[in-house]
This record gives sequence, C-alpha cells and structure tokens, in this order.
Amino acid sequence: MSSLHNISAIVTGAASGIGLATARMLHARGASVALVDVDAAQGASVFASFDPNTDARVIFIDANLIRSEDAEDAVARTVGAFGGLNALVSNAGIQRYGTAEQTTLELWREVLDVNLTASFAMARAALPHFRRAGGGAIVNVGSVQSRTAQRGAVAYVTSKHALLGLTRALAVDHAHEHIRVNCVCPGTVDTPMFRASAALDADPASVIEACERMHPAGRIARPEEVAEVIVFLLSDAASFVTGTEIDVDGGLLAVIGGAPKR
Ligand SMILES: NC(=O)c1ccc[n+]([C@@H]2O[C@H](COP(=O)([O-])OP(=O)(O)OC[C@H]3O[C@@H](n4cnc5c(N)ncnc54)[C@H](O)[C@@H]3O)[C@@H](O)[C@H]2O)c1
Repeated sequence: MSSLHNISAIVTGAASGIGLATARMLHARGASVALVDVDAAQGASVFASFDPNTDARVIFIDANLIRSEDAEDAVARTVGAFGGLNALVSNAGIQRYGTAEQTTLELWREVLDVNLTASFAMARAALPHFRRAGGGAIVNVGSVQSRTAQRGAVAYVTSKHALLGLTRALAVDHAHEHIRVNCVCPGTVDTPMFRASAALDADPASVIEACERMHPAGRIARPEEVAEVIVFLLSDAASFVTGTEIDVDGGLLAVIGGAPKR
C-alpha cells in the first residue's frame, strides 16, 4: 500500500459506519482527515477517540450537507486547517423507503439532496483545491443499488444510480488534471443504517439472517472491508483507476436471480 502521508482528506458521514471506518483507516495510515457529519454529538465523541499524538491531523466539522453552503464551508474549513485538500470521500447518505406513490416530493428531495446533490456540491467545492494540489481523488459511496433495485426504495435507488453518472462525468472532465473519481458499491454492511433498516421489520433478526443468506459469501460486510477499498482508491496504488465502480458485495451482484445461498 502506498503511503498516505501526503493525503489531506474529507470524509462525509464520518461519525458512523462506513465513513467512520474509512476515516480511522486513513488517519491510522498517515492521512490528515476532516470528519464531516450532521450528528454533532456523535461527531464530537468520535473525534475525541482519534489519537492526537501523530503527524496526521484530524478535525471535526459539524455540517448538514443538505445545504450546499455547508458543503462549501466544510471544504473551506478543511483547507484552512490542513493548508490544502487532495482527497474526498462522499459517503454521507440516508435510506428511506417507499414506492413512487408512497414517496412524497419532500422525501424524494431529501434523499436526492443528501445522497446525490451533496456529493456534487462537495466535489464542486473541492475541485479548485485539488487542482492547486496538482491532483486528487474522489470516492463516492454508492451501493449495489447503484445498479440494481430493491423493491419500495425508489428515491434511494435513483440517488445511488445517479451517483454512478456523477462519478463518470467528473472522472472524464478532470482526468487530464490528475483528478481521479471512482465509486464503491457495497452490498449489505453492518452499520447503524443497516440495523435501523432491519429494525423497521417486526422480526429484525430474520431480516439480518435473510441478508446474510442473500450474499454468496454467506454473511454481510464489516465497515472496514468497504473502507479498505475506499482507501485503496484514494491512494497512489490506484493511480490509473478512474471513472469506474468497485462492488464490495460478497458476490451479491454476481449471483443469478438473488437466489439463496444453497
Ligand atoms: N450499510 C449498508 O448496508 C450500506 C450498503 C450500501 C451502501 N451504503 C451507503 O454507505 C454510506 C454510509 O452508510 P452507513 O451504513 O455507514 O450509514 P450510517 O447511518 O451508519 O452513517 C451515515 C452517516 O452520514 C451522516 N449523515 C446523514 N445525513 C447527513 C447530512 N445531511 N449531512 C452530513 N452528514 C449526514 C449520519 O449522521 C451518519 O453519521 C451511505 O451513503 C449508504 O447509502 C450502506
């Protein structure tokens, strides 16, 4: 693995789950990391758990990325603290359920604003700083639902599909500036988001078990297994990888018809 000491990164949604695992991994391997999250209490407690006695710096920024001015502010504050920016993980996301008829325009806009428009706004604000740094890398966190659809999740599925379009458009526009843009598409990952979704069912344990069986690997992912791929894509080890997605799904998208394991 290439050194990450030259990386100054923003991770959105860093107070929990995949974002937290990614921020911890980046920091442990030498990168300076801005933790950006709307959950100020959880963000502050997570921030306090990072080791301050290293060259790699860490800051927490309380931001609601549904507002594009918060995205711009998060980038400006990170650049102010670290003196530059060359990595962005757009991971903050929300899961909401409903078919088209069950989804109000308000809910639709909320999901699209957080899952898609925030990634655009963060990239838009970060690009001039990447250029100044001589290049950089963005990883958008999509989902297996960037390429397939779960029933009754029209806004989420649409937002995650669109992230692939955003990823490719940014990649082709900025490849000549040494800026790489990729997407990671996880299957089910054991995070607070997943646990909250399972808890919507009368029998959460059966949902968890069904998710485990659904993946050919026979289990769901740990957040660190997704973080490893994100960190790889940010590193120089991925220097010729851009405009693409990597599934981190235990074989879920490879299996025919979503059949049970056996
Ligand atoms: N857990 C899974 O099974 C799974 C599978 C595929 C993709 N994903 C995607 O991975 C990403 C991370 O999911 P997770 O499971 O770690 O979720 P999580 O709920 O554990 O963490 C998401 C974080 O994003 C933050 N956030 C939400 N809205 C925000 C906003 N408006 N502004 C700033 N921060 C905000 C939350 O406060 C939270 O800390 C999401 O984009 C999700 O769609 C998750």
